[in-house]
Amino acid sequence: MKDRVVVITGASKGIGAELARQLASRGAKLVLAARNVAELTAAAEECRSRGATVITLKADVAVEHDCQTIVAGALLAFGRIDVLVNNAGMSMWARFDEIEDVEVLARIMQVNYMGAAYCTRHALPHLRQSSGLIVGISSLAGKVGVPTRTGYSASKHAMTGFFDSLRIELDGSGVSVTMIYPGFVATGIRENATGPDGKPIMVSPVKEGEVMSVEECVRQIVAAMEGRKREVVMTARGKIGLFLKLVAPSLIDRIAKRAIETGR
Ligand SMILES: NC(=O)c1ccc[n+]([C@@H]2O[C@H](COP(=O)([O-])OP(=O)(O)OC[C@H]3O[C@@H](n4cnc5c(N)ncnc54)[C@H](OP(=O)(O)O)[C@@H]3O)[C@@H](O)[C@H]2O)c1
Repeated sequence: MKDRVVVITGASKGIGAELARQLASRGAKLVLAARNVAELTAAAEECRSRGATVITLKADVAVEHDCQTIVAGALLAFGRIDVLVNNAGMSMWARFDEIEDVEVLARIMQVNYMGAAYCTRHALPHLRQSSGLIVGISSLAGKVGVPTRTGYSASKHAMTGFFDSLRIELDGSGVSVTMIYPGFVATGIRENATGPDGKPIMVSPVKEGEVMSVEECVRQIVAAMEGRKREVVMTARGKIGLFLKLVAPSLIDRIAKRAIETGR
């Protein structure tokens, strides 16, 4: 990653900010994008203290023009893009029959799926020039169904279908696609998850102390980026779950139900 120009969406906190810190220590040049300028600035300062050159861009990935601006800002600052990490995302925690306004599902799709599609669309010509890498931060919910996550799971399945298709289209172009499927990771995503009334649920229903640390999650992401791996399915439960989905799909339904009920 040394001297590589890496664009990270959703870099103001959580996985995106930790990815920025770990890549800063490896000598990457960073383009950090998100909506919260204060958090973005703090994340960038931590990267600079590790010796990295960093720019920040305020952007809402649900807006295509903002995604175009991220790409333009990266080119203006560094003249090239080597890696695009589509990480920005939002979650939900509500049964479908409890959701008051179905518009919530459209917003999640717009941020998680269309945000990644917009950024990829504008970065792709430049990634072709650099024989670069596209990373999609999906979720185990992008591989299997999860109760209380109908809209989130749909958006992550959409990412999977989009990037698995794009990977085939890009065969021979020099551009690689790496998909990441984390399980529960200890970030603030669940406090901010949209509840039945459309507002953040504020208190995480997950036992945050018992799930994967953000540092470990990002170590696995960085290794996948460096190895240009096709995909990484995190946790033993995730890997076993994918096998079970093929041979005993109702069993993986029960495992997903239990994970939500027990919060781990
Ligand atoms: N934590 C987990 O358990 C887990 C598990 C599987 C997958 N993931 C995925 O990992 C990614 C990062 O999640 P996280 O856990 O790090 O969550 P987080 O701590 O809540 O961070 C989410 C990031 O996305 C940004 N973001 C949200 N909406 C945005 C928008 N419309 N435009 C631009 N940026 C936006 C947020 O920044 P602003 O609010 O400043 O815009 C923030 O930087 C997500 O795609 C998530 O689905 C997380």
